[in-house]
Amino acid sequence: MKPRIMVTRRWPAAIEHVLAERFDTTFNQSDAPMSLAQLKAAFLDFDAILPTVSDKLPAAVFPDAEVRTKLLANFGVGFSHIDLDAARERGITVTNTPGVLTDCTADVAMSLLLSVSRRAGEGERQLRAGLWPGWCPTHMIGTKVTGKTIGIIGMGRIGKATAKRAHFGFDMDVIFYNRSKVDDEEIRAMGARQLPTIEDVLARADFVSLHCPGGAENRHVINAARLGGMKRGAYLINTARGDVVDHDALIEALEAGKIAGAGLDVYDGEPDVPPALMCMENVVLLPHLGSATEETRADMGMRAVENLTAFFERRPVPDKVA
Ligand code: DGY
Repeated sequence: MKPRIMVTRRWPAAIEHVLAERFDTTFNQSDAPMSLAQLKAAFLDFDAILPTVSDKLPAAVFPDAEVRTKLLANFGVGFSHIDLDAARERGITVTNTPGVLTDCTADVAMSLLLSVSRRAGEGERQLRAGLWPGWCPTHMIGTKVTGKTIGIIGMGRIGKATAKRAHFGFDMDVIFYNRSKVDDEEIRAMGARQLPTIEDVLARADFVSLHCPGGAENRHVINAARLGGMKRGAYLINTARGDVVDHDALIEALEAGKIAGAGLDVYDGEPDVPPALMCMENVVLLPHLGSATEETRADMGMRAVENLTAFFERRPVPDKVA
């Protein structure tokens, strides 16, 4: 008998086809985030659940009763929406899809960095509104990117890919904070310097790009004090997770002109976005597009399929996180 699996959102058609062939697959036809009650019930009916970042799986969703589910094969690299301890307690394996979305997420970090510093969103809004006064020497002046310093918080795969783009593409100096020592040839080739504290990075960087995981450990890593410690005129870029930034403190720092602007792809409580941010011209807001390319979404799907297949064939799963 094929394992029964529950896919919480619609996936790229080609991957859905593979899933349907290999497993007894139920798709959430509505393609809306499943409720906590629906997810809780799924643990009793399915051998595996395939959630995404839009499905919240806190401890309360894991039933107390004996569950049928043995695997949560997450479609995505970040897994802070899943309570790993609750999964471990019930003997449920959790997997993710690392590596395949590194480049596309780094591309979005650089798009945000360029868009906010060169006022692309603001300029586009002005033009579309028919308000462009025409070229003149003082029109919509932004900040030069080439040769500036980028500060990376979290030098994992995506941090490194962003640093490479910034250094080799834009001649930027790279400084970074990472919890553990990073000794890596690629990083040495960029002349990147690891600094001892986040504060050290914030005080020196013209652009700060966040690449650490979300969840309790990194909640509000960027808070009022740290925003206050950023270089005046610096920009904050977040393609990691919304909860890494204290949004209220960010809004205050932007309103007070402590920092020049922000480029955000992720939000605490998304898809809700703080209305104050929506009104700010010096903020570029994207709807969590980091991995949103055809190629990457297909690769993420196949990576999840590989994890599922290995698990049910009783082979070691490639991307086990719990
Ligand atoms: C991830 O994989 O964690 C992304 O945020 C979803 O695109």
